[in-house]
Amino acid sequence: MTNSSIIRISNLSKKYGSKEVLRVTEAAVRRGYITGIIGPSGAGKSTLLRILNMLEPPSKGEVFYYGRKVPAAKADVLALRRKMTMVFQKSVLLEMSVYDNLAYGLRARKLPRAEIEKRVNTILETIGLSGQSKQRANTLSGGEAQRLAFARAVVLQPEILFLDEPTANLDPANVELLERLLVQLNKDCGTTVLVVTHNLFQAQRLAHETIFFYQGELVEAGATEQIFTAPRCQQTDAFVRGRMIY
Ligand SMILES: Nc1ncnc2c1ncn2[C@@H]1O[C@H](COP(=O)(O)OP(=O)(O)OP(=O)(O)O)[C@@H](O)[C@H]1O
Ligand SMILES: [Mg+2]
Repeated sequence: MTNSSIIRISNLSKKYGSKEVLRVTEAAVRRGYITGIIGPSGAGKSTLLRILNMLEPPSKGEVFYYGRKVPAAKADVLALRRKMTMVFQKSVLLEMSVYDNLAYGLRARKLPRAEIEKRVNTILETIGLSGQSKQRANTLSGGEAQRLAFARAVVLQPEILFLDEPTANLDPANVELLERLLVQLNKDCGTTVLVVTHNLFQAQRLAHETIFFYQGELVEAGATEQIFTAPRCQQTDAFVRGRMIY
């Protein structure tokens, strides 16, 4: 693997009970790239993101970050985790105001108050929730909550951002808004993004590279254009053409 791999996976396996739900012999995520993860429901996409975000350990195998194995010391693990943020398939918000949801992580990182205010107000403006900053997060509409969950991750300016179907329940205008924000973040900050999506058009719009999973197995990975126009595996071909039988 090249030096440009920010994450590298080697002989990874995840089992729940005796059922193996994920198997990846070898994979790498390039630094500064947007990588799309596609595949049918139950293919193991969310499981992979949870492992990479260190929310769950793999049953077997290794993940290397920045070319190094996960550190043993607790303080180093914490430092590594702070470089990564995840937006879940079902948005998780705190039982507090919109503003506080956004400020929470920044306060935990002990950023100066003025910096927190600046960042929060900027992102509120971008996601169109400026007028609702005092509203309780649990009273937001589905789409608003999803935008807020996304913004909570972005405001932290992570080096690696994991997104699990970030736009699944949004209307087209908001999908476009979040996609623009994501591309801008990737360009301006060089953020590495891993995005799971069921929307194949979205994968093609956003991702530089795409990984296809099927029944827990990494079937094929490559440049997005290659995956969609000249896939090497028959299963990938069937999936990207919408011909896969589930
Ligand atoms: N905690 C768990 N215990 C038992 N089985 C699990 C657990 N988490 C996930 N699984 C199983 O692992 C498989 C992969 O699940 P995962 O959520 O990773 O799929 P996915 O590709 O994200 O699917 P979707 O597109 O529907 O979100 C599924 O069969 C799921 O039921
Ligand atoms: Mg999932």
